[in-house]
Amino acid sequence: MSATPSPLQPSRPGPADETTPDLHELPDRVVPAFIAHWVVKTARSAEMIDWYGHVFGARVVHEDRQIAFLTWDHESHRLALVKLPRPLRHVFPLARIRRKTYGIDHLAFTFPSLEALLLTYERLKGVGIEPVWSINHGPTTSLYYDDPEGIRLEFQVENFPTAQETADYFTSREFADNPIGVNTDPGYLLERLRAGIEEGKLLRRGAGTRPGTKQRANKRAITWKTL
Ligand SMILES: [Fe+2]
Repeated sequence: MSATPSPLQPSRPGPADETTPDLHELPDRVVPAFIAHWVVKTARSAEMIDWYGHVFGARVVHEDRQIAFLTWDHESHRLALVKLPRPLRHVFPLARIRRKTYGIDHLAFTFPSLEALLLTYERLKGVGIEPVWSINHGPTTSLYYDDPEGIRLEFQVENFPTAQETADYFTSREFADNPIGVNTDPGYLLERLRAGIEEGKLLRRGAGTRPGTKQRANKRAITWKTL
């Protein structure tokens, strides 16, 4: 009998004494492949289409009075907007507070390099779209944006070359002492990148603190705005 795990066999429990999973092992069962799209009920469909057009280069592949489908890559649609009557946008003023306290907090998108992340930061700033939070978490360097409905998106680059190294980082003293991270100044990171500092150095925590400014780290990085 073969010892090779089959996706059609029931899953086996892993070793109980390991704190870091071996991420080289593939799942031993059939699982969903990837995130395809998300759907938002919105009373601000025009603002949402405009915003996702700027941020993702989203194109509308179908729109009628009830719904709009948008995509920006190989997927048939990445985002669908179910249109609600515009006056409803005044009916749920607490919707943004809900995100801060309960349910899904954010969706995260990975960039291939710090340069790509920071050039996007610069491009969006040029059209008035700025991050609500910029932080080096340790595992990732992240910029958070709120869309017109207050849905939070995280744009990130991985600080470690492999998921295994990130998994190992979670057992480190550095992570235990500061699990939140250190706020960054993305403009300063971009200046340093353009000055020729290599990306690996700029992905270290603290590298994005502009000299002469106060560093905010760990729980002090969390404010009502960044929450
Ligand atoms: Fe995240």
